[in-house]
Formats: sequence, C-alpha cells, structure tokens
Amino acid sequence: RIAYVNGQYVPHGQAYVHIEDRGYQFADGVYEVCEVRAGRMIDERRHMERLERSLREMRMAMPMPLKALGIVLRETIRRNRVRDGFVYLQVTRGVAPRDHYFPAPGTPPSIVVTARHVDPAKGDALALQGMAVITVPENRWERVDIKTVGLLPNVLAKQAAKEAGAREAWFVDAEGRVTEGGSTNAWIVTRDGKLVTRPAESGILRGITRTVMMDVAEKLQIRVEERPFTVVEALAAREAFVTSATNFAMPVVRIDGQVIGDGIPGPVTRALRENFHHHAE
Ligand code: PDD
Repeated sequence: RIAYVNGQYVPHGQAYVHIEDRGYQFADGVYEVCEVRAGRMIDERRHMERLERSLREMRMAMPMPLKALGIVLRETIRRNRVRDGFVYLQVTRGVAPRDHYFPAPGTPPSIVVTARHVDPAKGDALALQGMAVITVPENRWERVDIKTVGLLPNVLAKQAAKEAGAREAWFVDAEGRVTEGGSTNAWIVTRDGKLVTRPAESGILRGITRTVMMDVAEKLQIRVEERPFTVVEALAAREAFVTSATNFAMPVVRIDGQVIGDGIPGPVTRALRENFHHHAE
C-alpha cells in the first residue's frame, strides 16, 4: 500500500508525520472519507466543498488548490489499485513546538491521503441482516458540524456499541432526541411511511450521504421530515437506518436490544440503498 504524505508517495509502513504535528497533539485537523466505486470517487465535489467549509471554520487555508488535491486523491487511488473502497484525506495545522496558539503564519499544513480496497459484498451482506445500535448520552462539543479528527467521544461510543454486540452508537441529547451516530447520520421511517432525520443546522455533521439520500427519497416519492426524533419514537418506528459514505443506507433492526419493526431490514431502507448510486455523482 502507498500513502501520500506532504508531497510524497511513500510505502504505507513508512508513512509518518512528526511527533509535534498539531493533529497528534491537539486533534487540530480535519478529514474527509470518500467512497470509491469502479475506480471513481463518489460525490467528490460535495466532499471537497465540505472540506473547504471545515477548514474555513478552523481558520485554516486550503492546503493546495482544489484541482491539485483532486489529482493527489486520484493518484493515491490509482497507486493502491482501489476499484471499490475509500479514500481518506486529512489536513492538520502542521508541525510546530507544542503551544496552544496557532503556529507562526506560513507553517505548512500536514496533508495525508490513504486509499483502501473494501469488498462491497461485505456491506451488502450486512445490509441483508441489518445491524444493532445502542444509545449513549450526547457528550460531544457543539461544533460537530466541523469534520475534525477530534473523535474521542465517537471512538468511546462506538467501542461501547461493539462490546454490547452492536455496530453503532446513537448519541442522544438532553431532551431524549437522537443527534447522530458515532460515524453515521440517523434516520427512522414512521408508521405512515415518512422519513425523519435531524436538521443539519445544529448537533450533527451534515453528511454527504444524508444530502444525497434526500434526493433519492424525492425521486422515490418518499416524504422527508427534517426534525429531531426521540429514542421513544425510534423504538416505535417501522424502520430505522443510518447513512454514511461507508454504509450508504444501512438498516438498523435493534436499538438498545429492542427490535425495530419486524426485526428485519424494511422495504423503504432497501429501496433507498438500492437507488443510492443512481443519484450520487
Ligand atoms: N464518517 N456523522 C458523523 C459523526 C460522521 O463521522 C460521518 C462520516 C457522518 C456521515 O457523513 P457522510 O455521509 O458524509 O459520510 C455523519 C466517516 C465515514 C468516518 O468517520 O469514517
């Protein structure tokens, strides 16, 4: 495997950043994960737009022109011979002696790109089964709209899920409403067949898959309500699912051990999943 690190393509096992990288010391960086399918990046433009936004909110500059970045992403995919899988991009505020204040102007950001093959059959197999989620109290900072590498609460929540025999953890706010998953956006299908997902204005990351799924729903003439939903409502839902670049739409069949709907993936989730790649760019 090959990784891109600050201007060079190096063997994955020798791809290092400095111990005083701001990403390592302060989680002072942002990232994107983009699906690769048949050798092409899915929704590249939207991912790049979100990267630009994350950087802007962090008061960081684009590390290189968008065109050049696209070339690096594609070259990393090519060098790793990834047909189906993911490309990962991380930009940190660079290397500087440890000090909370921003480094001196002109300090170059650190840029890392990796690409990995993942067999799509694996996700498809899981989608036939559906997955379990647990709920955990929301304990993240307020700026989860920025896709930063500061993911400690997400790591702890997802590990707790794993240890409980589930795959994802849904964060729940003080009002009992689901915000999102540790690495996914959360959705339910109501008894009358409407999709419900939390507005992206606060409390969640605006997932690219979430945005595209809204278009898919519209094409399939499924109504979408952007509003928060509670755990109680989710437990009584007909279907539930999560979305992310790594999952498209993945059915949720158990929440905190309680069966959702019939306990098997439902038709609405299945239709959204099957139609996703017709609408993604
Ligand atoms: N996670 N919410 C959170 C907290 C996420 O980390 C992600 C993505 C999403 C879904 O966003 P998108 O549809 O753009 O992938 C929602 C990536 C895949 C990850 O951290 O691996």
